[in-house]
Amino acid sequence: MLELERDQKVKEATDVLTVEDFDSVEFWVGNAYQAAYYYQHALGFEPVAWSSLKTGNRKYASYVMKQGGAKIILSAPYSPSSEMGAHQLMHGDGVKSIGLTVRDVDVAWQESLNRGAKGLTPPTEIQDEFGSLRYATISTYGDTIHKFIERDNYDGIYMPGYHKYTRDVDTEFKGIERIDHIVGNVNWNQMDPTVSFYHDVFGFSTFIEFSENDINTQYSALKSKVVRNYNNLVKMPINEPALGRKMSQIEEYVNYYHSAGVQHIALHTNDILTTVKEMKSKGVEFISVPQTYYSNLSDRVGALDEDIEKLAELGILVDRDENGYLLQLFTKPIQDRPTFFFEVIQRKGSEGFGKGNFKALFESIEREQEERGNL
Ligand code: FE2
Repeated sequence: MLELERDQKVKEATDVLTVEDFDSVEFWVGNAYQAAYYYQHALGFEPVAWSSLKTGNRKYASYVMKQGGAKIILSAPYSPSSEMGAHQLMHGDGVKSIGLTVRDVDVAWQESLNRGAKGLTPPTEIQDEFGSLRYATISTYGDTIHKFIERDNYDGIYMPGYHKYTRDVDTEFKGIERIDHIVGNVNWNQMDPTVSFYHDVFGFSTFIEFSENDINTQYSALKSKVVRNYNNLVKMPINEPALGRKMSQIEEYVNYYHSAGVQHIALHTNDILTTVKEMKSKGVEFISVPQTYYSNLSDRVGALDEDIEKLAELGILVDRDENGYLLQLFTKPIQDRPTFFFEVIQRKGSEGFGKGNFKALFESIEREQEERGNL
């Protein structure tokens, strides 16, 4: 792991683009109604707003799912000839837009274009009874976009055009606090250009790098660099495949997503034991490591607040660095294609990504890959 210095140029650029936090993430899916059921009953997200034929939207159905500060939008097209329909056919269910809260949309738009971003939607103001909201969109890796959102003058749940949504059935469990990081998979040799894009256009800095020596097994490998904004609330690792004896899991993703795209979103919880237990009881499937992982865990990570037997029972992974430790677990892909999955993470001091777990994890992922006939 390499800690990189942030140079002065990067600091100035960060201040110019005004990115403050993740705002929301929009998935384009085949059936938003059914996806919303899974997000609500399996993952604990509350459906809080929607847009559909019944609210006057003739183009697509869309649900705003909220848990703590994490907001996920699930949208599905009514027409195959729409951009959303074409995207769904090509990529299957996946992340279309990573929303970023900015202090000033005009500045974010103008500065990002000046620095070489491809602009899509220029600054646009929309209004309803809750105030006015400004947004703009630019391209990033694959068909994924960033939506800059300025919501200082808006009190509504999500955006004008969305209506309050109420369902009779309660959301039973809410353990997620916020989005911790969002990981992108890019194709061969695209990691450095993508990281440069976040440096040059966003003014983000690189703070951790993992080489194929850090992330490899007997069979396959990947490389990763993590970029972040100035206040560390927006953290985005970028992965690319690396050469191994067999197919990299990143290559498998790109083959099935048919482009670069979002690999996983890490959801932060303050109580991973309860969160994972609840999700498992609702049928969410997680990647599992062999029980031998736990036999010398305390030698590897030292004293923990949690009972190791309970961690072992749920298959939760632990890693420690100089600042503390973290607990994490990864779901299996949550759609038919072996593409997007979620991570559940609890940080206790560590700002890392679980480097000590990479080997055990990737061996588990490879077992899955092999069952799919893709190793
Ligand atoms: Fe992660």
